[in-house]
Amino acid sequence: MSGIGGHQRPHKGDSDDWLTPPWIIERFGPFDTDPCACLGAPESHRCARITFNHLQNGLNQHWRGMVWLNPPYGPQVGRWLSRLAGYGRGIALVFARTDTIWFHEQVWPKADALLFLKGRLTFCRPNGVPASNDCGGPHVLIAYGSTASQRLCDAADPELGALVKLSPKGLAPALEGGGPLFGGDKA
Ligand SMILES: C[S@@+](CC[C@H](N)C(=O)[O-])C[C@H]1O[C@@H](n2cnc3c(N)ncnc32)[C@H](O)[C@@H]1O
Repeated sequence: MSGIGGHQRPHKGDSDDWLTPPWIIERFGPFDTDPCACLGAPESHRCARITFNHLQNGLNQHWRGMVWLNPPYGPQVGRWLSRLAGYGRGIALVFARTDTIWFHEQVWPKADALLFLKGRLTFCRPNGVPASNDCGGPHVLIAYGSTASQRLCDAADPELGALVKLSPKGLAPALEGGGPLFGGDKA
């Protein structure tokens, strides 16, 4: 499979250039900063007022206001989520890979709300045209900070997906500091 979900870890370069479908920005925006924008993407697919592309390296830039984060794929996802969690004001869109280290380190303990999307998204190519295939896997919107969380909750809808509020942060106390989280009976 050659689409967005065709690799567990898509390669660097062109395969990172999957643009957010504009309806998502319309629904959850507006956003002030997109720290990982696609160089040369059409204006119709601009996700935020301020954008940084890979030449400017958004990880080293000063972010402002509400951030939109659809980060480059692969092992670097954790670095981007870590930066957004520390920044504390924004919404990220990533594959719902709940088994990964980055999900366990940067999402469950740090996020404020999650929206697990129903169905599969179709992202757009760098010229703005929707891809011919869907993304091949589930996605989740992750809100960091109370403003972003409120925005996610306000815009959520059961038809869109399952909303999970993490309060104050992290999963319910039953999972904190207890015994094994899974496989306990057989351990
Ligand atoms: C999945 S695309 C998302 C593009 C855009 N943010 C959107 O949501 O439509 C990720 C983009 O991050 C860009 N990128 C990769 N490394 C980057 C870096 N260090 N700083 C800024 N952008 C980067 C890639 O060129 C790619 O276009």
